[in-house]
Amino acid sequence: MTRPRKICMAANWKMNQSIHKLESYAKDLENFSKPSLSKITEKLHVVLGVPAPFLEKAESIFRPKKISISAQNVHWEESGAFTGETSLNMLNEIGIQMTILGHSERRTLFHETNNEIRLKFEKALSKNITPILCVGEKIEERQTGKTFAVLEEQLSSCLSQEKLDGKNFLIAYEPVWAIGTGLTATRDEAHEAHKFIREYLEKKISKTVAEETRILYGGSMKQDVTRELLRSTEIDGGLIGGASLEPETFASMLNIAYELSP
Ligand code: 13P
Repeated sequence: MTRPRKICMAANWKMNQSIHKLESYAKDLENFSKPSLSKITEKLHVVLGVPAPFLEKAESIFRPKKISISAQNVHWEESGAFTGETSLNMLNEIGIQMTILGHSERRTLFHETNNEIRLKFEKALSKNITPILCVGEKIEERQTGKTFAVLEEQLSSCLSQEKLDGKNFLIAYEPVWAIGTGLTATRDEAHEAHKFIREYLEKKISKTVAEETRILYGGSMKQDVTRELLRSTEIDGGLIGGASLEPETFASMLNIAYELSP
């Protein structure tokens, strides 16, 4: 099967793990990767989204293994009185090149708005940090047929620039009802949403951006559904929460993605 884009398998550890376990996680990931972690990272883009205090150490451990380290959030201002926030310059200083943005937990628990997410997205691009922009509908929105309208609103508020390069950002489709619930979207549901997002990119930005942008699926993505989801070439990988916490499980998902990579 030819895939139009390189698969990206991104872990989102959220507020979990311990900085003291980073080395053993790396070792276990090596041990459980087949044929080997180095072969896997030649074919796949592997990302670990870790808590802010782990970033610098994680970068020093995983960069030599060709694994990208990602922040989970960032502020758009350069510096100032923003207690508790992290700036993009601070990420640049420690060599971090990616950040998750607009995760539904940030939208819901911390009341982030589409406008704030747009500011973060635009600033990240201007600082050469690759955002993984999360979008997705709540269960009541799906049940009332509003999925596409919600996706369109989330996309249109962030992707308003005319000049966008599909290699410089990723989108994660994360239906809120599937996050941490054990309910995974079926391949058809995910495929349909990804197709909608790609068509949106083609219509509103350009065909090239639509063809280049990697769209990941997130929401209770586990070992048993990885193969099924990745059979859709609209699904360019995963943003994986719970199942990424155990290196053995995450490695087994990488192994499957490797098998499905040309
Ligand atoms: P789970 O895989 O734990 O459902 O989390 C998904 C997610 O929110 C990734 O960002």
